[in-house]
Amino acid sequence: MRNIESPAVLLSSVTKSFGPVRAVDGVTLAIPRGQTIALLGPNGAGKSTTIGLLLGLLPPDSGQASLFGHDPGQAVRRGRVGAMPQEGGLVERVTVRELLTFVAGTYPAPLPLDRVLELAQLTGLRDRRVDKLSGGQAQRVRFATAIVGNPDLIVLDEPTAALDVAARREFWDGMHGLASQGKTILFSTHYLDEADERSDRIIVIDRGRLIADGTSDEIKRVVALTTVSVTVAGEAAWLAALPGVRHLEIRGDRAHLRSADPDATVLALARAGAVRNLEVAPADLEDAFVALTTKTNLTTKTKEIV
Ligand SMILES: Nc1ncnc2c1ncn2[C@@H]1O[C@H](COP(=O)(O)OP(=O)(O)OP(=O)(O)O)[C@@H](O)[C@H]1O
Ligand SMILES: [Mg+2]
Repeated sequence: MRNIESPAVLLSSVTKSFGPVRAVDGVTLAIPRGQTIALLGPNGAGKSTTIGLLLGLLPPDSGQASLFGHDPGQAVRRGRVGAMPQEGGLVERVTVRELLTFVAGTYPAPLPLDRVLELAQLTGLRDRRVDKLSGGQAQRVRFATAIVGNPDLIVLDEPTAALDVAARREFWDGMHGLASQGKTILFSTHYLDEADERSDRIIVIDRGRLIADGTSDEIKRVVALTTVSVTVAGEAAWLAALPGVRHLEIRGDRAHLRSADPDATVLALARAGAVRNLEVAPADLEDAFVALTTKTNLTTKTKEIV
C-alpha cells in the first residue's frame, strides 16, 4: 500500500475578517513536507493573518487549517512546529541562555543549546539579558525560540526585517542547513531577492487572496515582460507591431521592447535584419511582483502557474 503523507500545511478555503476588513479571503494552499516557501505581498495583504490562521493562533471565520494532518493546536503542542511572529516581546530580566533553556524544556526533543546559539548567531550574546539587546539581536533570539524545539515545520514572519547585511547572510546560511535536513520552512518577506534566491516556491498574497503560486521563474515568466533592446537606424515605430511586443520605448538610437514572448520577438527582429547590439534582459521578480499586485485583472492569468 502506498504511504500517502499529509502535507506539512493545508489551508482549505480559509477566511478571516476583522470588522469590515477581509484580511484573508478564501485561501487554499498545500505545502508538501520539505519545501521552503516564501510568502510575498504588500503591507496589509494578509500574510501575518494567514500565518496566524495556519498556526491555529487565530480561529478562521470559515474554512480549515491543518498541519501534518492534525489540528494546528495539536501539532504545535506536539512540538512539530516552531514559529517566529512578526512582533512580540521577550520576557524580561533573563539571559538569552536562560530563555532558550526554558523554551527548550517545553519541547519533547529540543536541539542542543550550542547548536541553536550558533544557528541564530547568538553564541557571543548567550549571557546577555534579553531586554538589553538591540532590535536585530532580539529578532535573532525570537528566531532561536522558533527553532530550539527542533520542529519539522518552521514558520517565520519577516525573519530578516531588522537584520544587517552580514546577519541576513548568516541567517540564510543557517536556514539552508535546516532546509537540507528536510525541514519545511515558510517565511514572509518584503525582500524580493530573498524570495527569489532562498525559496523553492513563492506564494503572492494581495488583499487577502492568493494571486500567484509557483517557482520564481514561473512567476516571472507569466507576469513580467522580458526587455529586448536593439540599436535601430531611422524610424522605429514598426517594432511595436512585432510578435510578443507589449510596449516600446525609444531612447536615442536604442529601442527597448517589453515582450511577453522574447523568442518570437528576437526571431522577428532577425528576419527584419534589425539585430544590431541586441540585448535580452530577463524579467525580474520585482517587475513581476509589481505587475501582480497593482493589476487585479491578472488574477485569472496567474492561476495557470499553480
Ligand atoms: N487584529 C486585527 N484587528 C483588526 N484588523 C487587523 C488585525 N490584524 C490584521 N488586521 C488587518 O488585516 C489586514 C491584513 O493584515 P496582516 O497583518 O495580515 O498583513 P501583512 O500582509 O502581514 O502586512 P505587513 O507586510 O504590513 O506585515 C490589514 O488590513 C490589517 O489592518
Ligand atoms: Mg505582517
